[in-house]
Amino acid sequence: MERIMCGIVGFTGEGQAAPILLDGLSKLEYRGYDSAGIAVKRDDSDRVEVVKVKGRLEELSKKTNGGHAVKGNCGIGHTRWATHGEPSELNAHPHVTEDGAVVGVHNGIIENYVELREKLQKNGYSFYSQTDTEILIKLVDYYYKKYKVGPIDALAKTMVRVRGSYALAVMFRDYPGEIYVARKDSPMIIGTNPEGTYVASDVPAILRYTRNVYYIGNLEMARLTREGATFYDLNGDEVTKKLVEIKWDAEAAEKGGYEHFMMKEIHEQPKAVRDTIGSVLNAEGNVDLTAVGLSDEDIRDISQIYIVACGSAYHVGIAAQYVIEDLARIPVRVELGSEFRYRKPLLDPKGLVVVISQSGETADSLAALREAKEKGVKTLAIVNVVGSSIAREADSVFYTLAGPEIAVATTKGYSTQLVACYLLAMQFGLVRGALEESYYHELVAEIQTLPEKIDRIIEDKERIQWFASKYAHARDVFFVGRGIDYAICLEGSLKVKEVSYVHSEAYAAGELKHGTISLIEDGTLVIGVLTQSDLYEKTVSNLVEVKSRGAYLMGLTTYGHYEIEDTVDFNVYVPRTDEHFASSLAVIPLQLLGYYIAVARGLDVDKPRNLAKSVTVE
Ligand code: F6R
Repeated sequence: MERIMCGIVGFTGEGQAAPILLDGLSKLEYRGYDSAGIAVKRDDSDRVEVVKVKGRLEELSKKTNGGHAVKGNCGIGHTRWATHGEPSELNAHPHVTEDGAVVGVHNGIIENYVELREKLQKNGYSFYSQTDTEILIKLVDYYYKKYKVGPIDALAKTMVRVRGSYALAVMFRDYPGEIYVARKDSPMIIGTNPEGTYVASDVPAILRYTRNVYYIGNLEMARLTREGATFYDLNGDEVTKKLVEIKWDAEAAEKGGYEHFMMKEIHEQPKAVRDTIGSVLNAEGNVDLTAVGLSDEDIRDISQIYIVACGSAYHVGIAAQYVIEDLARIPVRVELGSEFRYRKPLLDPKGLVVVISQSGETADSLAALREAKEKGVKTLAIVNVVGSSIAREADSVFYTLAGPEIAVATTKGYSTQLVACYLLAMQFGLVRGALEESYYHELVAEIQTLPEKIDRIIEDKERIQWFASKYAHARDVFFVGRGIDYAICLEGSLKVKEVSYVHSEAYAAGELKHGTISLIEDGTLVIGVLTQSDLYEKTVSNLVEVKSRGAYLMGLTTYGHYEIEDTVDFNVYVPRTDEHFASSLAVIPLQLLGYYIAVARGLDVDKPRNLAKSVTVE
């Protein structure tokens, strides 16, 4: 299945299409990709030329000599970021019917693809790839031929039949020089200039050619010719559109108008979390881990869980430890990849090793996974990048659907890993009889409210921005909390220090007085995280202890705990949720804090010094 992070580009006009397609696709690189392809048609030929590669766009460029080896004035191109189905040449777009009558690229997800595939199989179609896009293109072909209608009617019939989201660009052999597009819930724009007409999933792809674009509406279609675009609604009636002038520069456009990828990705969290939850919820509203590859029998057999990860993913592990032990009553041990791999760990043969990694390439996490496999222990990976080394080598994989993460400091990667762990904890708890069914259903309902709550916290970001500018030149920051709040502190502290270079440390609140409290001076910023009601009073006492030594206090708690204002100097509230899920909400203001301190200090937020996005060395 294809997700919305793919990139689409199309062109019909005076010049050669292929170089324009390659150039456009390269501007969508920030959307991530693992395979790419183009389809180009010459007016005087019946044949569409399709070229696809697995891997980087450079490969496609090499294979086509920068596009110059593929001749024709009309074409479509695609970069694919797989979320299901290995990245491969076969699965890469464009997809084409056997007789070459219809060829297309797609961005989005087709939910009822199984039913559509069966319908097409009954009508004599066969399939060469694992993609829902191939099904979609062949469905267009089916209606096109069955009803002998034009492209717009064939597309309209397809749209009525398909459930899901899509931005679709199609060429028909019988309509040379024309591209037909359709859109529902996936981004797509159309641009024009005197040389021709362009379509793309995002502005940067065509900004070099034109600043004049049309925004195609939901459930609308368009016919693109050299001269321009005509728009249609689902009934096939023409719709008039206004041309809009894009005022952003290319760089701002790539970041969706945000100043930095980190801020863009902070804003993408509600969607990333929603998608990740949705990927394992079935129609009855239950968690279903079949796609992950864990049967109820596997789950019942687990004697012990070992979570292994690095950096922020390790912090997810610390939070998950509390949640899994509490909901599923399975003992959990959390370890850093770099420690686990050399510790000669004693592993219970009935244990489960869970490796958490956004990139799926972190050397220490990968080595730990191999160590576990060598010892014959079952492994499960929670990974974002499909087809990455950790994903390939683990026995089963739970893919987070964060989409590509560009900023070095993780935000949406972390948030999606967290919810993946909650979902495992809930399902393990239910299957093993540790969790009452009624509570399980409450949790299923509650977890689905997280995206909207995260959204609300982000909306309130100006308050954090104000505070960050006040503390931008702090020398030290200490984060304190207990239980899950301690796990939140670990991540909050890392977010602040890695992007802002302000020294910060996280402490289990009760540990501070065993040494670190001697660092507290007049005005030292101490941030208390207090989302766990049974630990609330205890952490407040620890805050009072540091306040009496001169600390300046920020308190991060849930709405309702207004009495915190008697103790702290600055307070931040997040919405209430089941306390097991608190990390997902409380981390957001801390991500924003790190971001705004870094911006206030004029730092390169997306690429902090000395850091790499994917740490492939030990
Ligand atoms: C911090 C951060 C890193 C990563 C760590 C593991 O913001 O991004 O600490 O979490 O390098 O990376 P992955 O998840 O790719 O294994």
